Amino acid sequence: MPIEKNELRRVMGHFATGVTIITTVNKEGQIHGFTANAFTSVSLEPPLLLISVDKKAESWPAFEESRIFTVNILADSQEALSRKFAVSGGNKFEGVAYRIGANRAPIIEGALAYIECTLWAVYDGGDHTVFLGEIQQAEVREERPLLFFRGGYRALGD
Ligand SMILES: Cc1cc2nc3c(=O)[nH]c(=O)nc-3n(C[C@H](O)[C@H](O)[C@H](O)COP(=O)(O)O)c2cc1C
Repeated sequence: MPIEKNELRRVMGHFATGVTIITTVNKEGQIHGFTANAFTSVSLEPPLLLISVDKKAESWPAFEESRIFTVNILADSQEALSRKFAVSGGNKFEGVAYRIGANRAPIIEGALAYIECTLWAVYDGGDHTVFLGEIQQAEVREERPLLFFRGGYRALGD
């Protein structure tokens, strides 16, 4: 018998992760972004990473059509931003400091790192879609990361 949904969430929540805001831009030029921790490094040669986007997310169609996206890894000072981008609807970018990157997706100011990707492959992932991105450009700053563990935001303990 498959594991019950809430129990699955609880178990997976024991895997500590960083937190990202993944951004893109649709054909009409509207920018989109959402909070995500289903993000992992996949390959060095070629340089690939993956993200997993809920098919019910408002920004899902933009990811489908744009063929580019940017992963912004959040710093520990950006919890409020993470909460803001984890809610559907409205103009999430209002009042947020960002600039437009080389791939036309927003780069969030103050993020610990950003990674610009072009779409490499798309896989069905049940109620999510898995997007593999080929990394085109990336930059990192020496900041402390925002962490997520057991359903709550955390900071490094050291
Ligand atoms: C810490 C955290 C991690 C999340 N990770 C993901 C994820 O990897 N994929 C996803 O589709 N949604 C994830 N979500 C939920 C989305 O942020 C949320 O559904 C958001 O409202 C989607 O935005 P949209 O509907 O405007 O596209 C996460 C939420 C939080 C708080």
